Amino acid sequence: VHGSAGDIADISLAELGHARIEWAERSMPVLRLVRERFAETRPLAGLRLAACMHVTAETGALMRTLLAGGAEIALAASNPLSTQDEAAAALVATGLTVYARNGVDRAGYYAHINAALDIEPELVLDDGCDLVNTLHVERTALVPGVRGGCEPTTSGVIRLRRMAADGALAFPMVAVNDSDTKRLFDNRYGTGQSTMDALLRSTNTLLAGRTVVVAGYGACGVGVAERARGLGAQVVVTEVNPTRALDAALQGYRVLPMAQAAPLGDVFVTVTGNRDVLRAEHFAVMRDGAVLANAGHFDVEIDVAALAELAVAKQARVRQQCDEYLLADGRRLLLVAEGRVANLAAAEGHPAAVMDMAFAEQALTTAWLAATYADLAPGVLDVPERIDAEVARLKLASMGIRTDVLSDAQQEYSRSWRLGS
Ligand SMILES: NC(=O)c1ccc[n+]([C@@H]2O[C@H](COP(=O)([O-])OP(=O)(O)OC[C@H]3O[C@@H](n4cnc5c(N)ncnc54)[C@H](O)[C@@H]3O)[C@@H](O)[C@H]2O)c1
Repeated sequence: VHGSAGDIADISLAELGHARIEWAERSMPVLRLVRERFAETRPLAGLRLAACMHVTAETGALMRTLLAGGAEIALAASNPLSTQDEAAAALVATGLTVYARNGVDRAGYYAHINAALDIEPELVLDDGCDLVNTLHVERTALVPGVRGGCEPTTSGVIRLRRMAADGALAFPMVAVNDSDTKRLFDNRYGTGQSTMDALLRSTNTLLAGRTVVVAGYGACGVGVAERARGLGAQVVVTEVNPTRALDAALQGYRVLPMAQAAPLGDVFVTVTGNRDVLRAEHFAVMRDGAVLANAGHFDVEIDVAALAELAVAKQARVRQQCDEYLLADGRRLLLVAEGRVANLAAAEGHPAAVMDMAFAEQALTTAWLAATYADLAPGVLDVPERIDAEVARLKLASMGIRTDVLSDAQQEYSRSWRLGS
């Protein structure tokens, strides 16, 4: 089968794209199992699906799974900078219609989303809520035909909740981001490891024995702190939430306000989802050679404008994805990836083995939506617990790990309030 080319850079890259997708799939056993199931049960047979996602090898593996389930798919890129032209080409050759070219401008980006919507979707997969937003603002005639969709990002779910609160969201959207298998594993293990990767690639600094300051001890911050400690760093955590701060303290991290942490840190990583976490007053007291990186979604956590203003000179690209700012007193501060999300900009983002779970969850949730949409009300829904648990079970099975199972008497005991001491 051949999809229509839509708008991609170069179909001759398809072979390279297939190789990349197959490499990713080696680390995605859960998605492979779901695909086998889909090929037998065809839960998406004949259904039209519009997706707006990062067009990468891992997404390619998800698209192949949905295709095996019988869906007809139009795919647009959710970020033109992350588009892998070879993955786009391979997916066209696999049977999708793809609208994705690396580096298109904003107008091209929305033209691609609109073109994908021309499929008149019954199901949608979004990543950041731009496709769902375009449906509700520009393509309202298509809205009644949509059964529902999935949204896997923190920022997309926030937008969906605003739409729902306004009474504007017209169909069910599942907040895949909030499920245990996504949030715990993607944010913690994916961001944790790939942020270390970004620090090493951009600076090749030795982390053992150094002080790493982690701002924000949420799902991502826990992972970053854990991995930094694993490499031998002394970790300092900064927080605003008392429970998170207490958790960090009991984990054995030093918890300090940033004003006190700033002069101590050799490396700083912000993962708060908030702005101005590192700012002028902190740059003013940092050590010579301090490395600054952000792993939060938006590039607002490090006040880069203030850093530029404070600096007397800037040496761009002192290394790949690393700029050096020289301050008046001779200290140098090193900024990774211009303060943009470092694990994506200076490394490769989450490894495929982590994406495996989030994508398996999206495939199973899409099939669930296709079957149960008539019983669902418009709004933001959770991933059914059954699917969350199923993905964890399949991942364990793929790793050859077995667990205990409750006996009948144990199940009875955990259900009953009569059985006490
Ligand atoms: N880099 C990636 O690949 C990746 C992956 C997932 C999420 N994210 C992004 O990372 C950010 C954090 O995600 P999360 O899931 O850990 O969120 P979270 O809400 O679980 O954690 C954020 C933590 O930061 C704390 N915080 C807020 N403002 C602070 C401040 N000024 N100083 C210190 N701490 C502060 C909060 O109290 C909270 O504990 C978000 O922007 C999210 O979109 C990035």
